[in-house]
Amino acid sequence: MIFVIVFVPLLYFVFKYRRTSENHTGAYIEGNTGLEIMWTAIPVVIIVLLGVQTWALFNEYRSVPANAHEVKVEAYQYGFKMVSPEGIETDGEFTVPAGPVKLNMTSRDVIHDFAVPAFRVREDTVPGRWTYMWFNASKEGTYQVYCAELCGPGHSLMLAKLNVVSKAQYAKWVEENKMKAQTMTPVERGEKLAKQCIGCHSLDGSPAAGPTLKGLFNSDTKLADGSVVKTDVAFLKKKIKAPKNNLVDGYPPMMPPYSFTDDELNAVVEYIKSLK
Ligand code: CUA
Repeated sequence: MIFVIVFVPLLYFVFKYRRTSENHTGAYIEGNTGLEIMWTAIPVVIIVLLGVQTWALFNEYRSVPANAHEVKVEAYQYGFKMVSPEGIETDGEFTVPAGPVKLNMTSRDVIHDFAVPAFRVREDTVPGRWTYMWFNASKEGTYQVYCAELCGPGHSLMLAKLNVVSKAQYAKWVEENKMKAQTMTPVERGEKLAKQCIGCHSLDGSPAAGPTLKGLFNSDTKLADGSVVKTDVAFLKKKIKAPKNNLVDGYPPMMPPYSFTDDELNAVVEYIKSLK
């Protein structure tokens, strides 16, 4: 459209004001005060109006309602971990009661961006810093969360689900998860913790950014220095804590170190053991 608005008059004027004879000279134009005042004043008014409107919207965007439901978010390569106000940890999926929601966010490794297109909001998550955003989750349903900052080869896999439920359903969800946390087996706990691994490590035997976890336990793995090791419990634990050591042949040194507690580390290894 703009192309047409610009190029049709342009071609017309090229034709209309073309040189018609050898001695043809162009008209000498000094300037036009009226025109200059006009094309200064009109943009000034437009920009001031846009500025005032932006300021008002920005205030609304940054002022969190006092009754907002506060969730802690930790982004990492490649996923989102959330902690509800009741202390329930979830990964890749989180549940909130309908109404205003505030996210207090940080990142474990690089800059990510928590984006919920359905609510027209996004905000960077920055390592070593807390950022926040809020939105009004007025309508119950399931919404898609994306990472909107190119953060590595697994960026496009960095997704999460946001479930907005009624107050009653939320209370039920809290109860259920508290119960579940008490009765989970180590393998189940490990599976939950390992959600943050499957962006780079597949569960079906196919290689991704890192080796697959299927059949990994007690297999012979060739390292970059040519030696072959057994991936037993001790090796897996060492590798998760300090991934830059004992690099596996054929994979780039991309994995960040994970600071699991001993208990969590045992659970993750139990889970890897179970993937036969
Ligand atoms: Cu995290 Cu893209």
